[in-house]
Amino acid sequence: MNRQQLAAVANAIVARQKGVLAADESGPTIRKRFDAVEVEATGENRRRYREILFTTENIEQYIGGVILFDETLRQATGDGLPFAELLQSRGILPGIKVDRGPAALALHPGERVTEGLDGLRDRLLEYRQLGAKFAKWRAVIDIDEAEVPGACGIRANAHALARYAALCQELDVVPIVEPEVLMDGAHTIQRCEQVTSRVLAAVFTELDAHGVFLEGMLLKPNMVIAGLQCERQAPVQEVAEATLRCMRRHVPAAVPGLVFLSGGQSAADATEHLNAMNAMGSQPWQVSFSYGRALQAPVLAAWRGQEDNLAAAQRMLFRRCELNGLAREGKYLRALEEAA
Ligand code: 13P
Repeated sequence: MNRQQLAAVANAIVARQKGVLAADESGPTIRKRFDAVEVEATGENRRRYREILFTTENIEQYIGGVILFDETLRQATGDGLPFAELLQSRGILPGIKVDRGPAALALHPGERVTEGLDGLRDRLLEYRQLGAKFAKWRAVIDIDEAEVPGACGIRANAHALARYAALCQELDVVPIVEPEVLMDGAHTIQRCEQVTSRVLAAVFTELDAHGVFLEGMLLKPNMVIAGLQCERQAPVQEVAEATLRCMRRHVPAAVPGLVFLSGGQSAADATEHLNAMNAMGSQPWQVSFSYGRALQAPVLAAWRGQEDNLAAAQRMLFRRCELNGLAREGKYLRALEEAA
């Protein structure tokens, strides 16, 4: 394990104003996103869409890394330049989603555990050769108002995250550790905070047990937020305060950055929450983003599979990146965005 290299990559991804573009939708997920804008999910459409994202001018000011899916890491621009090389030449680090998605946790109805550890060392070796500098593994924590998640489900997911992170670091690939407490459901923000606390405590216990080098990883947490079906949606400042309180209690200062997922928040909400956290002053870690939907939903809506919409789609991506770059410094104003 090359600690210096791991730390350098982790820090580069969350350099000033920067965050991550999560463009690692698996086959079924990108199909769902394309369906919503009536684009057929062919290999060529997926390639073209990612090419539009990765060739958007000037996003390197705000994007330190892009997470790719297996298929995309093997694809290239229309001119034949592999996407990983294109990104790297622009100063954007290419990363790869390596988990194989969640499966039902045996004997624990309503809970899931992420799979994909078998053969992971070999897959990582290949991904590294294809240019990946970092990886991502997403654990999914389902939440209800009482029983779920239980201690066993949390421990199983935390253990898998730690095994994945250790494998990455052994091969000098920076692990992004993503324990996502889902927004689905009617749970309150208090319940989300309680569950997120338990999950993060378990994750850092396992990372420690597995000898993971904290300075050479990034954490991709959910924000502390009420479930989408909860009657009371907390105001922005409450989300920011609860999230930072929870992070400060459980995330060691040695971790260089938190790159929050958007998890189903609107693009503007995700930016506003990030901004509110950064407006609260400096924290032990960089407080940044690794958004999928919150960066891409407006781009997909502008593109709709039409070449004529290319410029509008790229303008939309640059704009969202720029606004999140401002939010990295607590300088985003939603009212100005809405007036524009
Ligand atoms: P969202 O920002 O759309 O939640 O996606 C981030 C991600 O990579 C989930 O694994």
